[in-house]
Amino acid sequence: MTKRQSVIVAAGLLLAIVTACKTNQTSSSQAANSNRSSGQSTPDQFAAARSTYDKECKSCHGQNGEGGPVKLEDGTKLKVPTFREGHALRHPDSDYLKQITKGGDGMPAFEKKLTPEQMNDLIKFIRQEFQARVAVK
Ligand code: HEC
Repeated sequence: MTKRQSVIVAAGLLLAIVTACKTNQTSSSQAANSNRSSGQSTPDQFAAARSTYDKECKSCHGQNGEGGPVKLEDGTKLKVPTFREGHALRHPDSDYLKQITKGGDGMPAFEKKLTPEQMNDLIKFIRQEFQARVAVK
């Protein structure tokens, strides 16, 4: 075997090992996923909404929905209103859905990123997590 040939063989072996690891990984994470979706006893009914919120909304609306001043990546400064008091409590779900779908006043539109179900889950999540314990005036 020439040196060149052995390099090719070694590369091929490496590729085979890497591919084997990858397949293992995907099959085990698929198993984890199907466990999750079939499990009716999920302790957190908002698990999905919570992770969407963390990913898409938290940077502006805050960990606890408190809002506040934020600085975006492009340097824009925004004053994000709180979900916990004031007009957020008076606005109905339909206003929320419209705001999430279309965005506006500094908030991006999510109609291309989220499904209506995801948005409705987010609204329930906001009502429950950030507003359930505050009295509606
Ligand atoms: C770039 C910052 C930003 C992101 C990201 C963002 N928002 Fe907003 N959001 C705002 C601002 C600013 C307002 C206030 C708009 C206004 O004054 O009308 C707002 C308003 C809202 C309102 C209306 C509240 C009310 O008082 O009626 C809802 C509901 C809302 N956001 C939900 C979300 C959800 C859910 C996400 C994630 C999917 C999200 N927002 C992501 C900035 C953001």
